[in-house]
Amino acid sequence: MAISRDFIQDLHNRLDIEEVISSYVSLKPAGRLRKGLCPFHGEKTPSFTVYPDTRSFYCFGCGAAGDVINFIMRIENLDYVEAVKACAELAGVAMPEDGYDDSLAKRRVRILSANREAAKFFNACLNDEKNRFALDYFLKRGLTPNTIKKFGLGYAPDNWHALTDHLKKLGFSEQELVLANLSKRSQKNNRCYDNFCNRVMFPIIDVRGNVVAFGGRVLDDSKPKYVNTSDTPVYKKGSGVFALNFAKKNNPDRRLMLVEGYMDVIALHQAGFTGSVACLGTAFTAEQANILARYADEVLICYDNDEAGRKATQRALEILGRTSLKIKVIKMEGGKDADEILRTYGKERFNAMITGASNQIEYNLSALQTRYNILTDDGKLRFLSDAAEVLAECTDVEVDIYSTRLANEFGVSKDALLAQINNAKGKRRHRMQSEQKSAQMKMLRESFDIKSNPERRKNLKAAAAEETLIASLMRNPEFYAKLRDKFTPDDFATDFNRRVITLLIELIEGGYQTDISMFNESFSPDEIDSIALIAQKGEETANTLKECEDCIAVLKKEKNAPRRNSKEEMPDEDFSNYFRNKEKK
Ligand code: UTP
Ligand code: MN
Repeated sequence: MAISRDFIQDLHNRLDIEEVISSYVSLKPAGRLRKGLCPFHGEKTPSFTVYPDTRSFYCFGCGAAGDVINFIMRIENLDYVEAVKACAELAGVAMPEDGYDDSLAKRRVRILSANREAAKFFNACLNDEKNRFALDYFLKRGLTPNTIKKFGLGYAPDNWHALTDHLKKLGFSEQELVLANLSKRSQKNNRCYDNFCNRVMFPIIDVRGNVVAFGGRVLDDSKPKYVNTSDTPVYKKGSGVFALNFAKKNNPDRRLMLVEGYMDVIALHQAGFTGSVACLGTAFTAEQANILARYADEVLICYDNDEAGRKATQRALEILGRTSLKIKVIKMEGGKDADEILRTYGKERFNAMITGASNQIEYNLSALQTRYNILTDDGKLRFLSDAAEVLAECTDVEVDIYSTRLANEFGVSKDALLAQINNAKGKRRHRMQSEQKSAQMKMLRESFDIKSNPERRKNLKAAAAEETLIASLMRNPEFYAKLRDKFTPDDFATDFNRRVITLLIELIEGGYQTDISMFNESFSPDEIDSIALIAQKGEETANTLKECEDCIAVLKKEKNAPRRNSKEEMPDEDFSNYFRNKEKK
């Protein structure tokens, strides 16, 4: 066994799950529970639930479930040992010294150190007189030597082995370099060669100051324009935010400016807009939105002035709209991107653009206006009806402000507009309710098909009994003393449930707690979801010793029953009864 169970149990008891999760998700009390928007899937109505009593969380929307360690694993993208370490730090307890497998953690340390050496190497090459043209490239684009130094910019020489050879001399193995995506292995002769060649280099540094990845740009117009580090054990593109390491400091307004490119960020920082960041990867993700929300209260979207930029703005608006962030959109005029506008017109103009940034409603309304010919009555009508849909999502105060504005601008009565908005609000509410309901029903249906238990469908009766028994023993470990002689894990028909009951018995016999936190080490996050679901279903059963004995009887009977021919057992009656009861609730 890796980390001792006593340690995990103690850690789990020390941490306040509500407090830990609160620093990532804004939670509101709902009776004894806490609810918020799920950080693991996009949603507008909260189905993410924290149970302070059992120190666990559960999302009714996507099925993510677990304890505080599991939460940290998922949200920080850490493996089990790293998450335990992070939790130990939060709880202020020291990790047990040795005896656990931290090979992945060690590998990460090696990759980070290779990245750091690579950044140093690229920077030295940039400052090498024989690569003067590379430095000139940055200088011609208006960067000062100070900026180049601050961002640790570099140059990857025009030689496909320069970095690989350099790092091998420093003691890094080819395997480590390939894992770090600094080198690639040739299919032909199996030799390693550099991933970045003849490119100016932008190191991507995380908030802890680690060099986690690189972007490399060609110096001319050839393709591909940028080569970026792909996903590695220390970097996930969809959660990368360039320059957040700088932007999180010196940002008293807690306001971030979101731009598209590396050069935009750097030019903005140089001009004094030190809250600028770029979200890397092709599409803005919910994960990136949640990261921004940790460091800011407001985000200004400042994407390129082209069709792709406008599309990206819509996407970012939608995803950021699911967070607590205040969002504004800067109207880009006079150039293709922030870098170009800054260089052409200077920072005063940019400041004016920030002041004139529209909020989300204004942006959406003006984007709508361009879609119709509002000089015709028909165009006007269609615009106003779409505008009502936009305002249906707004607060009463916002509705009041914008309906007054629209009424004046279009010469229609405010009351008529309000009636239309209310109508749209009603439709919207109805739509949301039915969406929520069908999502819940889908979850319930799927819950009959426990993801991690592929044998379940062929052994429905046995599996249901196994699950009830597991859930009951998790809640009432004291029952086990009376059941010990009556069954063994071998009586279980499905492998997955057998693994669960085996560990559960081990925990009970060892006198440990039987909650979900003790399963993290032996089960994957997906499997943890399934175990949490089983535990959850246990709430609906009797939770008596008698019930457990009945389950055991079912197991024995199923074990001895001749296998049926049908591919799947379908207890249609039970199934639909179950749903009927659920729907009534
Ligand atoms: P742009 O094509 O707008 O480039 O891509 P840019 O940032 O303005 O670059 P310059 O000014 O020509 O030097 C915006 C961002 O999209 C990513 C990069 O992060 C880039 O900064 N990108 C673009 C890639 O990752 N790969 C590409 O091939 C192109
Ligand atoms: Mn550009």
